[in-house]
Amino acid sequence: MVCTWPCLVPHKTRPPTATASVTARPPGAMARLSCLILLLLALFVSSVAGLRRSEFPPSFLFGAGTSSYQIEGAYLEDSKGSSNWDVFTHIPGNIMDGSTGDVADDHYHRYLEDIEMMHSLGLDSYRFSLSWSRILPKGRFGGVNPAGIKFYDSLINSLLQKGIQPFVTINHFDVPKELEERYGSWLSPEMQEDFTYFAELCFKMFGDRVKHWITFNEPNLMVKFGYLNGKYPPNHCSKPFGKCTSGNSSTEPYIAGNNIILAHAKTVNIYRNNYQAKQGGSVGIAIYMRWYEPLRNITEDHVAVSRAQSFEAPWFLDPLFFAERNGIPIGKPTPVAGTYVVPSSMEKLVVYLKQRYQNIPFYITENGYAQLGNISTTADELVSDTERISYIHDYLTYLRSAIRKGADVRGYFVWSLVDNFEWLNGYTMKYGLCHVDFKSLKRTPKLSAKWYSKFIKGYEQIEMASEESHKHVAS
Ligand SMILES: *[C@@H]1O[C@H](CO)[C@@H](O)[C@H](O)[C@H]1NC(C)=O
Ligand SMILES: *[C@@H]1O[C@H](CO)[C@@H](O)[C@H](O)[C@H]1NC(C)=O
Ligand SMILES: *[C@@H]1O[C@H](CO)[C@@H](O)[C@H](O)[C@H]1NC(C)=O
Repeated sequence: MVCTWPCLVPHKTRPPTATASVTARPPGAMARLSCLILLLLALFVSSVAGLRRSEFPPSFLFGAGTSSYQIEGAYLEDSKGSSNWDVFTHIPGNIMDGSTGDVADDHYHRYLEDIEMMHSLGLDSYRFSLSWSRILPKGRFGGVNPAGIKFYDSLINSLLQKGIQPFVTINHFDVPKELEERYGSWLSPEMQEDFTYFAELCFKMFGDRVKHWITFNEPNLMVKFGYLNGKYPPNHCSKPFGKCTSGNSSTEPYIAGNNIILAHAKTVNIYRNNYQAKQGGSVGIAIYMRWYEPLRNITEDHVAVSRAQSFEAPWFLDPLFFAERNGIPIGKPTPVAGTYVVPSSMEKLVVYLKQRYQNIPFYITENGYAQLGNISTTADELVSDTERISYIHDYLTYLRSAIRKGADVRGYFVWSLVDNFEWLNGYTMKYGLCHVDFKSLKRTPKLSAKWYSKFIKGYEQIEMASEESHKHVAS
C-alpha cells in the first residue's frame, strides 16, 4: 500500500481538508440528471488544457484560510486569556526555530490591511478561526471579553463590506489554559459543555452575519498529535508511540475524539434548533484527509487501503452520518509513511466522499504548498513560487473533474493567505500566498497570489503546459 500524498518532499504540502456540511440531502432525480449532464460535458471539454474559473459552478467560492493562533499575535493584549498553545510555545525546545505566536503576523492590529489585500486579490471568501481565550479568557468559568467580541465584530464587518464571505472555524487547536488545567480539556466530557457554551455565544454574537460555520478544524489530526504521539499540547502519549510524561496512546485519542464528536453533534443541534431558521447559515466540521492507493491489485492490498482510508475521514465522519455515536470509534490510527504530491488524488478523494456520504455538500477548506525558510529568509527568495502555482493549478484541475462527476463541492480555500506560525515548525514552513517579513511585518503577494487572483477574476490566459501539470506526480 502506498500513501499517495501529500508530497515528494515530506511535510511540504497541505492535502485537502474537507468540510462537510451536516445537512445531508439524498440525491434526487434532478441531482442525478445534472450529474449525467456534467459527465457528458466532461467528455467534450476534457481535452482543453487551460483551467478557467467559468468551468466551476457560478456560486463556487474561491478563498484562502488562516487560523487565530497562527496569525493574530497580541497574545495577551486587551484581556485575552492564555491558551494551551501560548503555554506550549513558551517552553524552550518545543518549536523548531524557538519561535512563538506572540506576535505572529500581528493580524490583530493589521487585519484591515489584510482584508484590503484579500480584496485586491479578488477572494470571494476568507476562512479564519476564533481565539477561544480571546473571547472567553477562562472558558465558561469567567466573563466574556468585550475586546474579543469587538475584534471579531470588526473583522467580520470589514470582510462583508468588501464582499468577502466569512467562513468561521470556531476551534482551530487553541483552547483556554483554564480548561486544560481544570480537567485536561478534551479528556473530560465536561469539555462538551465548554464547547457548546462557546459556540452558542458565537452564534449569538456573530451569527446574524456569519453564514458558514465550522465547529472544529481537523480534530482527527489534533487528537493524533495531542494524544497519540504527543507532539502537540497537551503532549500526551505512551510507548511505543512517543516519549511523554503522561498519557495513554491506546485510549486517550479515542476519548478526546469522542468528546469532540459529541461536542460537534450537540453544537449542530443547538444551531439547527435555535439559530438556523433565524440566521439561515450552515454548520460543518473540517476533517483532514489523504488518499491511499493499493500497491498491487490483490485483495490483501485493497483491504489495507480501505482500512487506512477509514482512519482518515470516516473515523470522524461515520459516527456523524451513520449514527453510531456513543461507542468508542473503531480501530487505531496508523503512523504515516512516505508521502507524495498526486493531484489526481483530489478527484478520487472527492468522489469517494460523494459516494460514501450521499453527495453531501462540502468545501475544500485547506489545500496548500509549503516553502522552507526561516525568519530571515528574504522575500525575493520566496515570492517566485512557481511550484505553488503548479500545485494549486493541478489540484484545481482534478477538483473541476470531480465536480463534473457530480460531486457537490461548493468552495476551495488555499492554505494559507499569509505565511504564518506553522505550529511545531514555527516560521520555517511557509504556506502563504502572500509573503510576510516577520521583522517589518510587511506583506508581499507572491506570484501564486497573482496567479490565483487572475484565475478568480476570470482571466482566460491562465494555462499551464501539461508537462508542468504533471511534474509533481510520483509514479
Ligand atoms: C492504557 O489504558 C488501558 C485501558 O485502561 C490499559 O490496559 C493500559 O495498560 C494503559 N496503558 C498505559 C501505557 O498506561
Ligand atoms: C484488478 O483486478 C480485477 C479482477 O481481480 C480486475 O477486474 C480489475 O480490472 C483490476 N484492476 C486493475 C486496475 O488492474
Ligand atoms: C536561515 O536560512 C538561511 C538559508 O536560507 C541560513 O543561511 C541561515 O543561517 C538561517 N538562519 C537561521 C536563524 O536559522
